[in-house]
Amino acid sequence: MTKKLKMKNTIAIILLNSVGFCAFSQTVDEAQIDKIISRMSVEEKVGQMTNMTLATIAYEKDGTVMIDQTKLKEAIATYHIGSYQNVLNHAYSIKEWHQLLDTIQSVTLRLEKHKIPSLYCIDAVHGTTYTKGSTLFPHNLAMAATRNLDLATLGGQVTALETRATGIRYNFSPVLDVGRQPLWPRFAETFGEDTYLVKTMGLATIKGYQGTNLKSTSSVAACMKHFMGYSVPASGRDRAPAYISDIQLREYFLPPFREAVLAGTKTVMVNSAEINGIPVHSNHYLLTDVLRTELGFKGVVITDWEDVKKLVERHQTAQTYKEAVFQSVTAGIDLCIVPMDYDFTKNLIALVKEGRISEERINVSVKRILMMKMELGLFDHPYVEQAAKSQLGKPEYRNNTLEAAREAITLLKNEGNILPLAKNKKVLVLGPTANSKTSLNGCWSYTWQGQDASYFDVKDLSILNAIKEKVSGEVRYVTQKEYESNPLLANQFDYIVACIGEDSYAETPGNIKDLELPSDQKELVKTLARYGKPVIMVLVEGRPRIVRDIEPLCPGILMGYWPGPQGGTAIADVLFGDVNPSGKLPFTYPRNSGDILTYDHKLLDEAVEVQSPYSYRYEFTPQWQFGHGLSYTSFSYENLKISSDTLRGNAILKISITVKNTGNRAGKEAVELYSRDVFASITPPVKRLRKFTKINLEAGAAQEIVFELSAADLSFVNKDLKWVTEEGDFEVQVGGLKKTFYYK
Ligand code: BGC
Repeated sequence: MTKKLKMKNTIAIILLNSVGFCAFSQTVDEAQIDKIISRMSVEEKVGQMTNMTLATIAYEKDGTVMIDQTKLKEAIATYHIGSYQNVLNHAYSIKEWHQLLDTIQSVTLRLEKHKIPSLYCIDAVHGTTYTKGSTLFPHNLAMAATRNLDLATLGGQVTALETRATGIRYNFSPVLDVGRQPLWPRFAETFGEDTYLVKTMGLATIKGYQGTNLKSTSSVAACMKHFMGYSVPASGRDRAPAYISDIQLREYFLPPFREAVLAGTKTVMVNSAEINGIPVHSNHYLLTDVLRTELGFKGVVITDWEDVKKLVERHQTAQTYKEAVFQSVTAGIDLCIVPMDYDFTKNLIALVKEGRISEERINVSVKRILMMKMELGLFDHPYVEQAAKSQLGKPEYRNNTLEAAREAITLLKNEGNILPLAKNKKVLVLGPTANSKTSLNGCWSYTWQGQDASYFDVKDLSILNAIKEKVSGEVRYVTQKEYESNPLLANQFDYIVACIGEDSYAETPGNIKDLELPSDQKELVKTLARYGKPVIMVLVEGRPRIVRDIEPLCPGILMGYWPGPQGGTAIADVLFGDVNPSGKLPFTYPRNSGDILTYDHKLLDEAVEVQSPYSYRYEFTPQWQFGHGLSYTSFSYENLKISSDTLRGNAILKISITVKNTGNRAGKEAVELYSRDVFASITPPVKRLRKFTKINLEAGAAQEIVFELSAADLSFVNKDLKWVTEEGDFEVQVGGLKKTFYYK
């Protein structure tokens, strides 16, 4: 945990311990659960392992969602369904949610012999996605740019409060996939490309979701997803094959899950795709040997959407659905998001009756599911909790999401200190993301694809309207078409703010064939720049679209990510200097779409130079580096010290640095510590992020920061797939300063 001190003109010392929080202690009456299971039929048990989507038991009439009583009764009486999820198409009011959930619960408790309550699950992935009037936060990628763990926890807490207010107690979040393939359409759902950043931000979010007691009306069960390797499809497409070596899998993709298991995360969702030719849904090694035996995970493993069936239809590793059910249950899944028909249920019952899957095997899964229901307090209070109702849409949440957006916005370029802009000038605003709330909010925003703007609060401003509120001079907005018919317009303004990037998309519909920014947007910036007026580029996007050609044309560039509902205000705050930017890129912004490297690549990836006649060079020259982000003030890094030249065994090395605000306004700074293994038995990356913290310094103030490093922080996975720290030289880097030490 980080501790922040605010001091003026003095030096304060803070100690940074490793990020973590205590595991949750929950009281569950295991004996009661065993007793229930001993009385359940095979059909009832399999029903608990089945998760159906709402569309199978509900319909919409005049825009209102209604339960189909006949279908609900069939689901419960015939198939003993134990859980539901999702919406038909879009967000519901809290009243609709309460009616839905209480109806499902009352029919369940009436027809279910053992009085096992029903569980409802939802994707509340950057706030409470599917409830009208809920608070959305910046997407995870933007949250990672804040480098502020307290904000991540706060976002998780608000989401838990609002989700629980709707009556839902299980959240399919957070994504712990490491975002190392920027084409992947779910890049914005990740906490970026670095394993440590994903791990720490993910854990901080889970802490916010689960709290310390799942029975509390301020908690929901979290779901770490998608276990694992989903985020690096070779093609960049969603749900496409990944090829990951065992070393890479363990060193880069497993650690966030391992830490989240240790922290008591209740559930895990499986990766829909495949690794090295094996679909993860039928991968016994990953789902049982690694997840259960090695990591000691005790919670519920849930499939992703329809993914057991896809073992037949897409992966083609099972000839029949029954075989697919056999493979996935044998591999280790507990709960299946079926979610449209009862074939999973029928096939699993048949497999148990035939003796191919033992009843003991399904008892294990059912017990995990019932334990979770009990931990969530569903056995005690199965209906919507009255005390939670008022937790939706509290005014202070708006400030929380605004604060998160403000800390996320990343100043990428500020040539000649063009920013912040003066408020009394004439500003021309244009571009596809200038007046779009859907592009600020991105996916999972009241609808899955996030493209229905009618759900957004009128009080939340687009970038254009936020600029209008701030500027005393003329602010003019034109569409690209209007501008093209009158390009001289650019001449009449002092500044041009070009808001470009991407609109909202989720999952497979967000696949792209090229990381380049669409050509019409590049053309727009090029024509705008022709008149010599400063063009400020604001990027609103879920992944880095290539801007190499137009970057030199813009003296000021801001990265907005998908900053959420207050993103327009936060961007305007930064543009006009009301907020000093402090976001840092959580990924490497590529310069060329054919040259995608993460910051922690290997030396072999760069700087090859051969003497004439074959003189060539491949340097690491991304558009912007991981960790890049400017401020309106300046910081100096001085006095890097290490407590010893040698780190022995399990001892701790203290690394201290003094950071000083050398400019003339207060500012926040994310301070990052990297290490480099100088020699290793497996080729070492050029550097790895090991620790970070965020501080706030008044103008002129300085602060000493002390990071603690242990051998474990420096370890890597060797050829025997073991975590090791090999004896030898290491280098640490903070703010461009370096020191070496020897590990013994
Ligand atoms: C997504 C998951 C999500 C699930 C349930 C799937 O399409 O991959 O991330 O949790 O749907 O809505």
